[in-house]
Amino acid sequence: MDVGKVLYNKEEIDNRVRKLADIISRDYRGCELMLVCVLKGAFVFTADLIRHMSIPCIVDFVRIASYGSGKVSSGEIIIKKDVEIPVAGKDILIIEDIIDTGRTLSLLAARLRERKPKSLKICALLDKRYRREVEFEADYVGFTPDEEGFIVGYGIDFDEKWRFLPDICVIEE
Ligand code: IMP
Ligand code: MG
Repeated sequence: MDVGKVLYNKEEIDNRVRKLADIISRDYRGCELMLVCVLKGAFVFTADLIRHMSIPCIVDFVRIASYGSGKVSSGEIIIKKDVEIPVAGKDILIIEDIIDTGRTLSLLAARLRERKPKSLKICALLDKRYRREVEFEADYVGFTPDEEGFIVGYGIDFDEKWRFLPDICVIEE
């Protein structure tokens, strides 16, 4: 298993993240925005995104178990680390690395909605639309890759490897 081609290089990522931060900042002007970063994969994306925002926001983290060390979604999701800041009454934006089958985010969104946030939206860096198994749409999407392959880099791993890569790449079998 090795890193194959670059899907999006760091300049492309930087431009897209800046653009997303602009759109989100405009949409949430005057709101009490709380970003909920889904660990670990979204940590680099979240760190870049908040630094390009032009409105104040607070950040918290969740950690969900869904993939383990394999490459297929188990369909079972456990919140291993919950947010520490109460969600009730706040404008919540979940920041995720990748939407694949859609199971992880639809379950997380449902759990957080039970806590009565003022609003809840989803921002995903990558949306593998062709892989969707449950109906699910993100509100903000960085990239929509149309080719198949397992993605790593820019915080995203395969079995904890390759998170450090500055580009978004596909791994070769
Ligand atoms: P879903 O529940 O099938 O939508 O799975 C989403 C989760 O699977 C994301 O949080 C990712 O961590 C992980 N995932 C899906 N595809 C990839 C990939 O290509 N590379 C790394 N992680 C992935
Ligand atoms: Mg993940």
